[in-house]
Amino acid sequence: MRLDKYISKAFGVSRKVAKELIRQGRVCINGQRVRRADFKVPTNSKVVIDGEELELKEKIYLMFYKPKGYLSTTERESDYPSFLELLSEYEHLKPFAAGRLDVDAEGFLLVTNDGLFAHRITHPRWGVSKTYEVILEKPISSEDVDKLLRGEVQVEGKPVKAKEVKLLDKNMVLLTLTEGKYHIVKRLFRSLGNKVLHLKRVAIGGVTLDPSLREGEYRELTEEELKKLKRLVKLE
Ligand code: URA
Repeated sequence: MRLDKYISKAFGVSRKVAKELIRQGRVCINGQRVRRADFKVPTNSKVVIDGEELELKEKIYLMFYKPKGYLSTTERESDYPSFLELLSEYEHLKPFAAGRLDVDAEGFLLVTNDGLFAHRITHPRWGVSKTYEVILEKPISSEDVDKLLRGEVQVEGKPVKAKEVKLLDKNMVLLTLTEGKYHIVKRLFRSLGNKVLHLKRVAIGGVTLDPSLREGEYRELTEEELKKLKRLVKLE
């Protein structure tokens, strides 16, 4: 990577500012002062600016199929392993999940190390939708579907309005919400006198979990998928 690009990324400054820093002789690579903006920085170089080492932290955006039995957090002191154990190749980039998924739930976990992106994807203000495939203990009636769509079911004393509810079978539903309260799906159906037996998140912000991924597998988001999500949260 060119030196001006490297500094711009690692330091969060424009290319113009990066070029100026280089021109002023404030940049050293592996102990040598470098004054050329187009200098190719060798991998694993130590880049120092004004005596301070710069760490180039690559941003990652992964679609991960969390299996049941794994935590979506990094809590220690738990009987369950963290999903991060399945992502060791990215450990050095310090990934985390943008949004939780219960240990007994499976499906789409959006994994990133981009704090602002993750914050917006999960913050209610941005209303990013999440779609769940839900299998219930008892059949779900059309009145229940209407109640969910009209926002007549409450969680924590507040109404929750589903964006979409699709009956897939008498005990199976595809539910799209734009809120992300703790255990929200289980609590919504508990309020309706039902019980969630199986919960799988199949989409986030209209980006669908890749059907070719198996439990525990992951891939990077495609450019289009990332663009779609970033547009939703005004980062593109
Ligand atoms: N709602 C739940 O009840 N659990 C989840 O993991 C996600 C949404």
